[in-house]
Parts: sequence; structure tokens; C-alpha cells
Amino acid sequence: MLLIRSTAPKSTDIDPATITANIDTSERDGFSYDPSSPPPAFGHDMLKYFGFDKEYVNVNHGSYGSLPLPVLAECNKLTLLAEANPDKWHRVTYMPLLVKAREEVATLIHAEHDEVVIVVNTTHGINAIMRNIEWREGDVILNTTVTYGAVARTAQYMADRSEAPRPKVYTVELTFPMTHAEIVAAFRAKIKEIKKNHPNTVFDILPTDTKLEGKGNRIVAIIDSISSNPGMYQPWKEMVKVCEEEGVWSLIDAAHSIGQELNIDLGATQPDFWVSNCHKWLFAKRGCAVVYVPKRNQHIIRSTMPTSHEYPSVESVRETSDTKFVLQHQWTGTMDFIPFLSVIAALKFRKWLGGEDVINGYTHKLAYEGGKHLASIFGTEVMDPSGEATLSMTNVRLPLPVEGTGPDARPIYTKAVQAQIARFLQQRFFETWNTHPGVYVHSGAVWARISVQVWTELADFEYVGKAMISICKEIEEEILANATEENEINEEKASEETVDSEKATGCWIA
Ligand SMILES: Cc1ncc(COP(=O)(O)O)c(C=O)c1O
Repeated sequence: MLLIRSTAPKSTDIDPATITANIDTSERDGFSYDPSSPPPAFGHDMLKYFGFDKEYVNVNHGSYGSLPLPVLAECNKLTLLAEANPDKWHRVTYMPLLVKAREEVATLIHAEHDEVVIVVNTTHGINAIMRNIEWREGDVILNTTVTYGAVARTAQYMADRSEAPRPKVYTVELTFPMTHAEIVAAFRAKIKEIKKNHPNTVFDILPTDTKLEGKGNRIVAIIDSISSNPGMYQPWKEMVKVCEEEGVWSLIDAAHSIGQELNIDLGATQPDFWVSNCHKWLFAKRGCAVVYVPKRNQHIIRSTMPTSHEYPSVESVRETSDTKFVLQHQWTGTMDFIPFLSVIAALKFRKWLGGEDVINGYTHKLAYEGGKHLASIFGTEVMDPSGEATLSMTNVRLPLPVEGTGPDARPIYTKAVQAQIARFLQQRFFETWNTHPGVYVHSGAVWARISVQVWTELADFEYVGKAMISICKEIEEEILANATEENEINEEKASEETVDSEKATGCWIA
């Protein structure tokens, strides 16, 4: 999530011996649990099962996930097993565990187990899909102004490649607050507009088409199930329906879904492609994401990324109609496969906590109520007052000035100012307050995204409230009050440092 590229420190600036955290693992007894006795109540009692620095108030689980200690213990056990006999591990032991991991994830999302493979992260998964599509000149990729940075840049890269044919990228403007109905309407309107503006192009290639003779072009829509910035549940199921009606391909960036969104039923919703991180909300070890490609579309994914031992030639696929989707993904080069397998221990731990409904019942309620409470502390507002778009993340406007909208309105959060705020926030978050909400600019205001997990309590919202009121006061006095002069000096430098999607509506600053 961190998209501020401040000048990279040199390796000589960092002495690993000086990097410390208050983690004495010998004091923790949360590495194991008794599955036959009930778990502690959700809230701070759950912290013993996580490895956080004791002073750290973690309200940003949504960015990188957090590994429960019992899952870590299971991963360590598997690592020792792998190191005990690397040959046996890689040739024999690893494979059935991978099959089990895939089967368990497939069951959770209601997919067939051979429609599901595991890759290292969502960026990888989406790249693999986008790079496998055999683009034609005139094809379209449709994303939104809140598409995740790396995903939007992947779309742009497809359009920028030196080798033709290349698709063109179009973007649906999403400026929040916006209701689900408004998002669906804007999405449909953009598809209609693209078709209208290309009267000589027939967008009639469907994902299931295996023969393209006589066919025209395709539109591929990248749809967030839960956007990152703002952290909002999107009407992705309705958008998949729009795609079906309009003959558009649906590629779902569901990075935040598994473990946060309840009742995922891919067999029923039938997106064309769906990719979700297991290392965010499902409690798997970092480096674990699930890619769903229904059998009807597996012919499109001709190679893994990178290409594996099991890549079949075009001739072989022609003869067998089988791209060996699962087999290719079993081994894409030697790496640590344990994060892939960690979903088994993660799901077991979640079951002990009460399962998906119980976990998300708690986190959803607290996200909704905590967000409103924080807004009242700030004297501001939540982005989603109805709760329609709130799952386990909430977005609250910070007590900072809001840009006007008229023609004479002065821009406040220029790139230079954002770069200064980013540096300031980072310093205050890590060195003074020991917490780190996601902070971003959207539609001329600055917002905090708070992620709620099983360890979170209302007191954590209050702590963030206290921290942010103090930090925002300093930002007003030290940055915004001097902004005009600073802007001129820093604008050019900052535009090199602050690289987010080039879009105006939203930008992470911390
Ligand atoms: C919506 C969305 N898509 C994609 C990603 C990329 O995830 P990863 O860095 O694990 O590839 C993220 C990460 O935060 C995200 O929020």
C-alpha cells in the first residue's frame, strides 16, 4: 500500500543491529491453542496470538495482513520438515499439502478445486491473467479511478508495450461518497460510451471463444471487490452481471475479499477471473494468493508467470484442449512454498475462533461503529454513512482543510504538500505514536482508513483519534501554513518522489 517513493536509503544508512522491536517471544504463550477449549473474547485478549510489538496499535491489517502465531508455528514446523530432507520435501511431501490447501480454499469460495491455484500475491495473479490475454489492436481495458496502483499500472503497461497489438485503457470516474447503485450506473454508462465512441468496432469476443476468426474485439473490465483506497466494498457482483449483459470480460481484483467478505460463491457469481490475497484477511503467511479461473476460461491462461516445466506446447493444447492450468501452477520455479500451505493452518485457526461469520460479524460491527465514533472525535464524517460499503475497513475524514470545488478554489494537497505530509506522518506514526492508519487524499480531503481485526477494540479508535488530532494540528501549523512558498520550491522534486496512479481522485499518502 505504501506508495510514497521517497529517496531510497542507501544500504550504508541501515545497521541491522539497530533495528529493534519490543518482541520477546519467550514471554508469549500464543503459539499454540487448545482446539477443544473456547477462544478468548475478541478484542485485546486476542493480541497474545499475534506477534506485534507490545506498544504497537495495529489498525492497518488491510495492507499487509498479520500472521497469527499458531500459523507461524505451523509454518516453522513445515520449514524444519523441508530442511530435514529437501529432496523428499520438494519431490514428495509438498505436493499433497498443496492440493489440500487448494481444496480448502476452493470450498470456501464455492469453486471447483481444479479452478483454483495459488500464487504469491494478487499483483502476480492479475499480471499473469493480463499477460496471457492475446490482445488485439482496438481491444479495451476498463478500470476505475480507484483501481489499485500496481493493477492500474499493469493495465497501462499492456497499452504501452513495444510490441503491438496493444489495448487502450479507459477509466470510470469514481468519486466517493457514492452509492452502489451509482457505481453500477457509472460503470454501465462508461461501457456504453466506449461502444458509442467506437462505432466501427464490434466488441464481440467472449472469454469462452476459442476460435477468433471473424470476431472483432474485446473489453476487459478490472473490477475491485473491495477497493483499497478508499477501503470500500464495491458492488462487484452487480458489475459482473453488467459485464455479462454487455459482453464484457470481468477480471475481479478481490485482493481484500477472502477472509473479509462473507458468502463468496464464485460458482454462482461466475466472474471470468478472480484473484484474492490469502495473506491479508485470511491469516495466511505473506506470499499467498488464490487465482480462480473457471474451466470454461482456462484455455486463455496458456502459461504461468514465469513459465513452468509443465507448459504444454500450442500443438499439444490444440490436440487435448487442456492448458494444464493446475499442473503448470504447481511449480513455477523453486521458492518457499510454505506460505501457500499456510492456508491450512490459517483456516484451522479461524475455525477455532468461530469461523467466518463470527469473525466478520465482530469486525464488521466494530468497523461500522468505530468509524462513526472516530468521526465524532474528529468532528468530521465517515465516507459511508449508510454502511452499505463497510465490511471490516472504515474511512474517516481527518480534521484537515477540504479543498473547494469552484473555479477559483485553491488546490491544497498538491504533490509537493502530499510528499511533505507523507514524510511527516511516517515520522510521527513510527517515532511518536506507534500506530499507522492508512492515510490518503480523496476528492480534495484527507481520509484515514482503519482496518478492524479480531484484536481491535473501540479503545484503538480512540487512540488513533488522539494521535491524529495532534498530528493534524502539527500538519496545519508546520506544513499547510507554509504551503504556498514550499509548493514552488518542492513541486518538481516531489513529482519525482510521489508516484501514485496519476489520477486526481485518490492518492495514498501513508
Ligand atoms: C485492491 C488491491 N489490489 C491489489 C493489491 C496488491 O496486493 P499484493 O501487494 O499482495 O500483490 C492490493 C494490496 O493492498 C489491493 O489493496
